[in-house]
Amino acid sequence: MPAVAAWEPLAEALGAVRRIVVFSGAGISTESGIPDFRSPGGVWTRYNPRDFTFAKYVASAAVRQRAWRMRREFWGAEPRPNPAHLAVARLEAAGRCRGVVTQNIDGLHQAAGSVRVVELHGTSREVICIGQRPRVGTPAGCGFRAPYTWAFARIDEGHDDPTCPDCAGIVKSATVSFGQNLFPGVLQQAVELIGEADLVLAVGSSLQVYPAADVPAAAVRGGATLAIVNDEPTPLDDLATVVVRGRAAGVLSAAVEATLTPAT
Ligand code: APR
Repeated sequence: MPAVAAWEPLAEALGAVRRIVVFSGAGISTESGIPDFRSPGGVWTRYNPRDFTFAKYVASAAVRQRAWRMRREFWGAEPRPNPAHLAVARLEAAGRCRGVVTQNIDGLHQAAGSVRVVELHGTSREVICIGQRPRVGTPAGCGFRAPYTWAFARIDEGHDDPTCPDCAGIVKSATVSFGQNLFPGVLQQAVELIGEADLVLAVGSSLQVYPAADVPAAAVRGGATLAIVNDEPTPLDDLATVVVRGRAAGVLSAAVEATLTPAT
């Protein structure tokens, strides 16, 4: 009896449904060279997340300068989509995936061709004005928004804490930091998208950060099945009908190839 490949139960689960929604975390992008947060060597093993709260960013120019240096490190490598992102986009193009709810800020799902992407934690590809003194946790900018390259150009000109050209407010990446509220309407968009799913495929997330991690759990409460692809156990494994312990790029590309290739 030939050994069953780890991805085969996932291919079977994907083949049994018509409406898949993918829920992704940083682990789907590690094979693009972007470190995740909580694995060994992850971002929060090298930086203290408490140093990067919204309140500290607003209060301290030194925190903002360190944050820009960290973002520079992040974007220096020009990350590209990997086979896991491409497999997700392939599923959507084939009409089998309704879209992606991602916790990631790297824009790699869109770069891979995914069209319907809800970015729960915003995007680091753009920067926004958050105003002079935003209230606790809520950006209150003038509406200025620009590609992240605008900020890097200002920094290269020697402005290590770039301010808004329209109102002199604080500028921040268009991401959601600890202590910051999600952007208006995003969680609702995620709940609506997840509500369309027969199956939610959670990929590369430790499923520890709320409210994001409640999105796949809410889908199960709503009657969807849950499949998880992750390098290590997650708190939602017991809710899943399929759990694949493995690397996202290889597992997703093989499972999607199998489910989209008609049986001969
Ligand atoms: N294939 C499969 N799983 C992987 C891979 C991979 N190539 N690389 C890493 N993983 C797994 C890790 O084992 C880990 O369980 O992905 C998970 C990533 O978990 P986290 O680092 O906690 O990232 P994430 O779940 O996205 O974090 C959620 O926390 O700090 C906040 O805003 C940040 O969006 C982030 C949120």
